[in-house]
Amino acid sequence: MLIFATSDKGGTGRSVTGCNIAYRRALQGEDVAYLDFDFGSPTAGAIFDIPDAERGVSDRGLHSYLRSGLEPVELDIATESNRESLRDMPPSSGRLVLVPGDRGGGEFGRSQELVPRCISLFNRLEQEYAVSVIDLSAGRSYAADLALAVTGDERMRQVTSRWLVFHRWTRQHIIAANGLVFGENGILEAGKLHGHDPQRLRDSIRFVRTAVVNLEAPQFTMGRPAQEAWSRVCNNDLKELAARNGLGLSTLLGEVPLDPVLQWREQIISDADVVVSKIANPATVEAFDAIAARLSEDSTWEGL
Ligand SMILES: Nc1ncnc2c1ncn2[C@@H]1O[C@H](COP(=O)(O)OP(=O)(O)O)[C@@H](O)[C@H]1O
Ligand SMILES: [Mg+2]
Repeated sequence: MLIFATSDKGGTGRSVTGCNIAYRRALQGEDVAYLDFDFGSPTAGAIFDIPDAERGVSDRGLHSYLRSGLEPVELDIATESNRESLRDMPPSSGRLVLVPGDRGGGEFGRSQELVPRCISLFNRLEQEYAVSVIDLSAGRSYAADLALAVTGDERMRQVTSRWLVFHRWTRQHIIAANGLVFGENGILEAGKLHGHDPQRLRDSIRFVRTAVVNLEAPQFTMGRPAQEAWSRVCNNDLKELAARNGLGLSTLLGEVPLDPVLQWREQIISDADVVVSKIANPATVEAFDAIAARLSEDSTWEGL
């Protein structure tokens, strides 16, 4: 199964949430690959805490593969990460690998040559991993267009592809996420040009809200009453706005609460961060875990 992680804007939490979902899915027992298709800024290595891949690798990254066909490296998180909790995943876990970009690789111009290379890479990963999460550059990027071209190709019809659109829980982000999917040159319009069946493509897209403020947290319930009341009004307005923009409950895959650890640092949240050091909130991990499980639950992906 291919999971394309997209967002209209940068800073949505696409990469941090995507990496944590990949990690949770591996903990659930499946082999997972994370592909850094954020070609202009391939920094997923920093989230997994792999020192030699913080800004991509010095050779045989995804850029090299797409440009010259050199097979990309697959970095095993269990051996490459500096984080003890990532090196010590329980035996019931699946493998978790990062396929990084090249350091300084840059964005690609449109080129038909990349489509067959991507098809063979995705098909190979599909044989080796139960789930591949592909973190795409933000907006109507070449990476997103490439993903639509590849998944619209006849040679990929047997592979299940799903799209997660990440957005913050704010006015601007809701409007932007709507535009990325339903707007001019959005995923649905571009998908049609690449041979996708519009209804099937629509059914394969779900939204993920990130860094959502918990209105039951003490700073609201025990803080200034006017602030709490105003926040509740805002939250209700956002719910209405989301529903009007096609981002309501029926297309929602999950919601990740604002977490203090992720506010300070882009990282994987381990169970030890919740239970031992107690720096992260249990609700954050519960959200990642639930989203990871829903990636393959039929009830989540029934036609709308
Ligand atoms: N649930 C969350 N709570 C608090 N901060 C978050 C949360 N999710 C992401 N962030 C932070 O938001 C910033 C942007 O996230 P990132 O994944 O880099 O976004 P993108 O990939 O969309 O550009 C990062 O500093 C990240 O740690
Ligand atoms: Mg990112």
